[in-house]
Amino acid sequence: MSATLDHMNTALNRCDEDSPFLLENEGAYQAWRDRKLRYRKELNATTVYQLDPGPVLPQSTIAQIQRQLTAFSFVVFRSADRLGKSEFLALNRQFGLQELDVNLGADEDKVTSLQVVSESDHRSQYIPYTNRGMNWHTDGYYNPEGRRINAFGLYCVHQSERGGSNFLFDHEMMYLIIRDQAPHLLKALMRDDMMTIPANVQGNRIIRAEESGPIFSLQPGTCVLNMRYTSRPYNIVWKTDRQSVSALNLVREILMDSEAITEVRLEEQQGIVCNNVLHGRRPFWDNTDKPPRLVYRARYYDPIDLDRDPGPVA
Ligand SMILES: [Fe+2]
Repeated sequence: MSATLDHMNTALNRCDEDSPFLLENEGAYQAWRDRKLRYRKELNATTVYQLDPGPVLPQSTIAQIQRQLTAFSFVVFRSADRLGKSEFLALNRQFGLQELDVNLGADEDKVTSLQVVSESDHRSQYIPYTNRGMNWHTDGYYNPEGRRINAFGLYCVHQSERGGSNFLFDHEMMYLIIRDQAPHLLKALMRDDMMTIPANVQGNRIIRAEESGPIFSLQPGTCVLNMRYTSRPYNIVWKTDRQSVSALNLVREILMDSEAITEVRLEEQQGIVCNNVLHGRRPFWDNTDKPPRLVYRARYYDPIDLDRDPGPVA
């Protein structure tokens, strides 16, 4: 692919009214669709790129990584050395990721150490901190509108003895499949009250207020498609009109049976950077003689932007 086309792909991230994700822009959608499907045929979703923290991504790999992101919305990488949390953040900054979200279980540096915690730890009530599997979701689907998670990174410090792989589904492919099959249902998925998460109340304290929002939305000022979704059956209220029910059922059907699902079992020193694709985790079992599974996670408000100035390295 030429440097010009590479640049066009990145420039697409900055469009607004020309977004391929608006139903009225059929031409832009078809062009985007053709390119995405072509790259998906040419590339392999599980190709592992050698990446390390640095001021910017190596020029030799930028074009390849941009194509990989256009095709799959995620990139799998391997670092030469084992990264600490600050180096993991420095690696992510090369993808233009700077605005970190804080969640309840995050460490002080806003990186979350995903590992099994003891029962006395308050985080043990949340599945990510157990060895249980996690079904399809996008990260931070319960966040309010001003704190949408548009990207996240994972980095495997130690893998479990068995299990623990991640399954991934490019949310852009979800949009593409629905638009091809039933474009009228996209309107339901983009309604602001499609999905409501009741407030998280513990004792008399509101930990998180009730939050309503769409499944698909366009991030202001960009062409970036955001998806909020969870397959959990409790603590979530979906809109119940006929069109919303059909749309939600279609999402569920696609997730049950699609060639677009990728399974990745990260090895130590491997990670994933992505635009908050749909994902889940298989249950896992540690070997007590070895260090337990430990995966760093960082969530970002900004989407991946390889052209962005990475800023000063912390
Ligand atoms: Fe997640």
